[in-house]
Amino acid sequence: MNAKILDPCCGSRMMHFDRANPNVVFGDIRAEKHILCDGRSLEVTPDIEMDFRAMPFKDGQFNLVVFDPPHLIKAGKESWLALKYGKLQASWRDDIRKGFEECFRVLANGGVLIFKWNETQIKVSEILALTDQKPVFGHISGKRANTHWITFMKMELAHMTNLQHIAQELAEEFAPLVIGQSGTTKTFTAEQASALYHILVSFGYKDECTGLDTKLPFELIDIKKEVS
Ligand SMILES: C[S@@+](CC[C@H](N)C(=O)[O-])C[C@H]1O[C@@H](n2cnc3c(N)ncnc32)[C@H](O)[C@@H]1O
Repeated sequence: MNAKILDPCCGSRMMHFDRANPNVVFGDIRAEKHILCDGRSLEVTPDIEMDFRAMPFKDGQFNLVVFDPPHLIKAGKESWLALKYGKLQASWRDDIRKGFEECFRVLANGGVLIFKWNETQIKVSEILALTDQKPVFGHISGKRANTHWITFMKMELAHMTNLQHIAQELAEEFAPLVIGQSGTTKTFTAEQASALYHILVSFGYKDECTGLDTKLPFELIDIKKEVS
């Protein structure tokens, strides 16, 4: 599969100009055909049956992902709305959170995510809170102006605060020294020391290294006393 565009919950591909576009991988959790109450047929025929919460793709494989998950929590099981758009489960917060994580994982750095959400039942703000990534811009459409089209670009470390960024760099550079040898002489600013301390703990070095306190530079020991 060399296509660089992914639609991981394509449904009947209504939004696509070319529903057989060879540059797109069309995925969905179901493959189904129905005749709707108005007599029209509805075909969900993905290239690949898949779950957007655990995508069968490599990191950074796509340049563009369009994520249009189900947005309804209430809809009759056999209603045309549920047949067409699918329905959210009780676990929808976790499901959409994992969906976002997977979209950003399979996107290359600099890749674009187009996210579509109709907020008839759940506010778009509640959904955007499920990802750390920040949207760049958006557009509202629909008769009732409740369908949001939102654009993200995957930025390397975009979701990190400056402090986390500093911490990550420091941890990568100095953690082996701090962990591996006692008495490293590196001098940290208080901010750097605090950041490094937090990142070491969150990376799990604390558990791996029983004597961590004695191996930390003195700035970190002070910070540790303050924060613990
Ligand atoms: C809003 S519809 C997509 C409509 C589509 N964009 C179109 O243009 O026709 C959402 C789709 O997500 C699918 N879906 C629901 N849960 C999924 C999951 N965990 N993984 C993949 N697809 C899922 C549903 O089957 C449904 O077809």
